[in-house]
Amino acid sequence: MLAGVMDPELHASITDLGMVDDVSVAPDGRVVVNVALTTLGCPLRAEIKKEVQSKVRGLPGVTEVDVHYIEMTQEQRTAAMQAARWNARENAPTTEISATTRVLAIASGKGGVGKSSVTVNLAAALAARGLRVGILDADIWGFSVPRMLGIEGRLAGEDGKILPNVLAAPDGDGALAVVSMGFLVDDESTALMWRGLILTKALEQFLTDVRWGDLDYLLVDMPPGTGDVQMGLARLLPQTEMLVVTTPALAAQKVATRVADMARRTYLKVVGVVENMSEFVAPDGQRFALFGSGGGAALAGEIGAPLVASIPLEPAVSEGGDAGTPAAWADPESPAGRAFHQLAGRIAEELLPPVEMAGCTARIFELATANLAAVDAARASQS
Ligand SMILES: Nc1ncnc2c1ncn2[C@@H]1O[C@H](COP(=O)(O)OP(=O)(O)O)[C@@H](O)[C@H]1O
Ligand SMILES: [Mg+2]
Repeated sequence: MLAGVMDPELHASITDLGMVDDVSVAPDGRVVVNVALTTLGCPLRAEIKKEVQSKVRGLPGVTEVDVHYIEMTQEQRTAAMQAARWNARENAPTTEISATTRVLAIASGKGGVGKSSVTVNLAAALAARGLRVGILDADIWGFSVPRMLGIEGRLAGEDGKILPNVLAAPDGDGALAVVSMGFLVDDESTALMWRGLILTKALEQFLTDVRWGDLDYLLVDMPPGTGDVQMGLARLLPQTEMLVVTTPALAAQKVATRVADMARRTYLKVVGVVENMSEFVAPDGQRFALFGSGGGAALAGEIGAPLVASIPLEPAVSEGGDAGTPAAWADPESPAGRAFHQLAGRIAEELLPPVEMAGCTARIFELATANLAAVDAARASQS
């Protein structure tokens, strides 16, 4: 679990950097993690503490997580820096995704439960908050993201890298950066020919060869079934967290449990459960539970993750998908539109807030820039 905690400045996992000094587990489930920091005063420590607690708390049997800080010795500090450099150069393919990007994989046990709809609408709602959100359509041969966002363009290239298709949010500075196999093949049936391709290789290329730019979030629309892709993600982007989508039918919940098991085995944290196709709300306010009810809450209880949203079954969602404008943009006041915006709010404000780069190095850069600007201004006024 701790391998999934990234040091936002050194761009590597805290275990690789030798920052995990000691872990102790008491019989009552209390865990103490000693984290060694390069400097004790590092303002990023609160960030690291939160991450450690959030990752470890989800493990079965854990009742409480305490984080203690110690300062590295000069030798440890040198070793950490060396590890960071080594990591940057040699380690498993360095992706174009920065360590400060929050990665959220949207998964489910089977197809047709609304993973792609949730991915696209959550991304749209996050972008509406002014954030820059990448969408990686990892459903390599069942892609549907291009149609749902109304994007047809091919992917352009630049200096040997692939550029994602970018879609600006209707208001504000937010944007979506989208990559899908759909932008590389001529039609959906050509995609079937890729069946033989090793899935994880395609995933790896999308992560290493695409110039994603600075992203606050990367949302990964997972293929159903998922074993391979999930393991690939865990290796390439250990900071990945999962959002599991299920329908309210209790039978669907059983299938979804397997995805959560898989996540646990690959040490990915399940950040929450989304129940999709929940009660249809008629214009007169009457509710109809067409696909049953309780599946989301039951799954959440079983895997020990919060139920973070219930998205009602609603024509605005499927119409938005067909028209290429997600309901979160086209119809934000509809019950489903509101549910997607609430989900984005919980993610961005509570469960997985964007990483603040108010850390040591970032602040030093700011200070240096400000000082240089002051020097420039002084020179200009002298001449
Ligand atoms: N909340 C919803 N209300 C109405 N239709 C929905 C909803 N969620 C998904 N759909 C529709 O159900 C179908 C399957 O959804 P999709 O997102 O493609 O699922 P998946 O990616 O899991 O296969 C699509 O036609 C989509 O428009
Ligand atoms: Mg899909």
